[in-house]
Amino acid sequence: IEPDYQSLSNWAANYVANKINAAKPTKEKPFVLGLPTGSSPLGMYKALIELNKKGVVSFQNVVTFNMDEYVGLPESHPESYHSFMFNNFFNYIDICKENIHILNGNAADLEAECENYEKEIEKFGGIDLFLGGIGPDGHIAFNEPGSSLSSRTRVKTLTTDTIIANSRFFENDVNKVPKTALTVGVGTVLSAKEVLIICNGHNKARALQHAVEGGITQMWTISALQMHRHGIIVCDEAATDEL
Ligand code: GLP
Repeated sequence: IEPDYQSLSNWAANYVANKINAAKPTKEKPFVLGLPTGSSPLGMYKALIELNKKGVVSFQNVVTFNMDEYVGLPESHPESYHSFMFNNFFNYIDICKENIHILNGNAADLEAECENYEKEIEKFGGIDLFLGGIGPDGHIAFNEPGSSLSSRTRVKTLTTDTIIANSRFFENDVNKVPKTALTVGVGTVLSAKEVLIICNGHNKARALQHAVEGGITQMWTISALQMHRHGIIVCDEAATDEL
């Protein structure tokens, strides 16, 4: 628990930088990082950009896999997760473009796209550190309430709650929010060697309570983190309101 958003963002960024540096990644044996979108990780991304500029951490031998992407939104749309990642992170760090993996929500065969994504993760020996946020209803990536806790990458229909929550990025118009997304599964996240979840603000307090104090349930998919041997949640004071 950190006092505020700035310090939790710095904490997370330092944690990631230390992990990458400790692994001493090479071209042959890169560090594999799972990445989220959303407002929660923005502060961490800013802090990581600074650490990269100062030479504290390099992303040259880091391979990334993003958690999710909307279906049917053009890659160039300002709210695609593809645009989000380049505009908020990738354009400002020394990562090699060929090391970036983001699900293609416009693939002709979405199921094949999801299957290949899992294979690609496996090809790199799995994810070393999966970073994530939490939806107000406790979802992780786009694993909405009811998702199997052993799910893998697949197409998922968004709940009305998530569509309403995300409409703030689509001129507050729920009709403009895509109704389906591609997402890594809860099982995909749990397969990572380590998972670090960022959780801030009072509107996440109920989700954090279920994550930490509730039983493990598919209705609050973040609660599956309780089964991970190296699962960390970094949060601010406001998110702890219900603990
Ligand atoms: C979306 C994303 C999640 C994210 C969640 C919360 O649903 N698919 O990965 O954790 O939003 O977003 P925010 O951090 O903006 O609250």
